[in-house]
Amino acid sequence: MDAFTIEGGRRLEGTTRINGSKNAALPLMAAALLTSEPVILRDVPDLADITNMKKLLDTLGCEVIESEKNAEPSLTLCARDQSQSHAHYDIVRTMRAGICVLGPMLARRGIARVSLPGGCAIGERPIDLHLRGLAALGAQISLDGGDVVATVPPQGLRGTTIFLGGPFGSTVLGTANVMSAAALAKGTSIIESAACEPEIVDLANLLNAMGARITGAGTPRITIEGVKSLHGATHIVIPDRIEAGTMMCAAAITNGSLTITNTPLDAMLAVTDRLVDLGVHIDILDNKDPMRATCRISSERILRPIRVTTQPHPGFPTDLQAQVMALLSIAEGNSIVTERIFPERFLHVAELGRMGAQLHRQGATVVVTGVRELHGAPVMASDLRASASLVIAALAARGTTVINRVYHIDRGYERLEHRLASLGAAITRTEGSA
Ligand code: EPZ
Repeated sequence: MDAFTIEGGRRLEGTTRINGSKNAALPLMAAALLTSEPVILRDVPDLADITNMKKLLDTLGCEVIESEKNAEPSLTLCARDQSQSHAHYDIVRTMRAGICVLGPMLARRGIARVSLPGGCAIGERPIDLHLRGLAALGAQISLDGGDVVATVPPQGLRGTTIFLGGPFGSTVLGTANVMSAAALAKGTSIIESAACEPEIVDLANLLNAMGARITGAGTPRITIEGVKSLHGATHIVIPDRIEAGTMMCAAAITNGSLTITNTPLDAMLAVTDRLVDLGVHIDILDNKDPMRATCRISSERILRPIRVTTQPHPGFPTDLQAQVMALLSIAEGNSIVTERIFPERFLHVAELGRMGAQLHRQGATVVVTGVRELHGAPVMASDLRASASLVIAALAARGTTVINRVYHIDRGYERLEHRLASLGAAITRTEGSA
């Protein structure tokens, strides 16, 4: 398994472009199962999770066509063959997001068999809300051999009002599954306590381009007027707000100066609010399209302590909790980080501790006591965002850090070592170490 070796202490400088969003692209790709016509997606990032979704769609009879080398990069998905409706464990266990084929497949094919995702490093991740929403539309749901088996009754799926809120608030992929299924149900559905994430808005925009009638995406109440069928469409994936936030933290921790293009600032107000409070400067250079802005990131030499609490969108995203914690580990004074979405999502705490960070966890809260500097050490990647926080810490640490199992990072960041090296970081990938 590959590892990253990072010599810390280099300022990041230069310009980098934000890629299309992983968490938008995955449900967008699954939506291709709702029609037998081609769905063309542009700016799909080149990531391990995307590769797995392509494999999954291929097993479900969806043709996956990459554009020619010299043509504008695009991905064409065409689900003509509907004979296979079983999403197997061997793929779904590698990528939980595989669950988002459930709603589209059920609605279009009348049957869907999807492996239950199983355990996750960031904590408990049940799918009860997904199943509750699909059952409310009339689906018959059963569990068999570790799979969810969902079928549509003879009279078809029927629109209805569904409350989709759970103990930690809304569910992103649950909203995606139910909204996609309701698009082909008879009558009108209302999803109350729907996820408001920009990725849900992006999915609703694609579905509407395919002929669906969805309003209210981006708010807690989404209304879907079911239609008989959906057609093909072309869609550009929104930029990745989590990647953008990660690059902002990386620039700030090295006291660097980074110009970031294709930045979805309009989807990051909770993030920029917190970063500015702790001493990061975000100078907007071009905001004609606030979802594709250009900004320059720099920071004060001494960062200030802050409080951060993760919440569903538009609150501070849980997927940036670990990265901002790495940044706060060298801020002056005590910061407080509270995780409200995945209360156990702290595997990075012990690893950052190995690099000299002073972190005191009590339940879902960590008190971060800033230190003057971090130091390099061998550390272990555990999940996607925890690994990104170790890279950020290593960029500032004195000496050498070796991050093992970076396959976690490849799931969500495209060739990260090349990107950071092009911005001045001393980072290399070693293949096949422990
Ligand atoms: C999406 O996961 C993202 N993944 C996650 O990003 C992100 O952390 C999460 O949303 C929250 O923002 C993708 O988009 C592919 P949820 P999802 O359902 O949809 C509980 C990354 O790093 N819940 O919104 O699976 C759940 O346990 C990944 O890119 C139920 O109780 O998350 C959690 O506490 C990691 N029952 C909360 O809701 C359910 O049926 C939010 O989970 C579903 C969820």
